[in-house]
Amino acid sequence: MGTEKDTQINSSGNFSNTNPIVVRRCTLEDLEGVIEVNEEELPEDYPYFFYKSILDNYPESFLVACNSNEEIIGYVMWRVERTPAITSLKLKNNGHLVSIAVSKNYKRLGIAITLLSHSMKKIKKYKIDEFVLEVRVSNYEAINLYKKFNFQTHSIKEKYYRDGENAYYMILNP
Ligand SMILES: CC(C)(COP(=O)(O)OP(=O)(O)OC[C@H]1O[C@@H](n2cnc3c(N)ncnc32)[C@H](O)[C@@H]1OP(=O)(O)O)[C@@H](O)C(=O)NCCC(=O)NCCS
Repeated sequence: MGTEKDTQINSSGNFSNTNPIVVRRCTLEDLEGVIEVNEEELPEDYPYFFYKSILDNYPESFLVACNSNEEIIGYVMWRVERTPAITSLKLKNNGHLVSIAVSKNYKRLGIAITLLSHSMKKIKKYKIDEFVLEVRVSNYEAINLYKKFNFQTHSIKEKYYRDGENAYYMILNP
């Protein structure tokens, strides 16, 4: 775990000066708050040990956004996967966006942009060949967000979600 100095990130975007939002690395104590935001914002929920294993393995790119009461109001987490390249037998490293969410009272303030841009810099240190993610085809808020980062739709994963919805598989070359 790093020092306070290297876990705090000066937030950019439209965050209010009177109610500053801090984006910093997630700690074990934050996981409960992360799970709350996930359960409020996304139909996909994960068991505690899943969050813990992401935190154990990729702590630098597991970031949280906190309000002035130190409540968790957003998070982002990534993992690295080694997969065969489509055009050769070589293996490549994918930085896979596991999940990102921002609480409803804090949306449209640029928090997701800050979470994504800082975490992508961190996950790059694993020598990523590509950033990849899946997103529900109906999730225009998130699709717009990823397009802002120049993610391109690579393909559709049919019935990717438990309720049968398709996913766009989106890719970005770092
Ligand atoms: C998608 C989500 C993370 C965006 O968080 P946010 O902090 O509100 O996003 P930001 O304020 O940083 O906005 C970044 C960009 O996302 C897009 N966006 C965000 N909300 C949007 C909305 N309601 N309508 C259209 N585009 C939207 C826009 O391109 C926006 O840029 P702009 O404000 O310059 O137009 C948030 O809506 C959320 O938590 N959704 C539920 C969880 C989820 O769907 N996660 C993604 C799973 S793949």
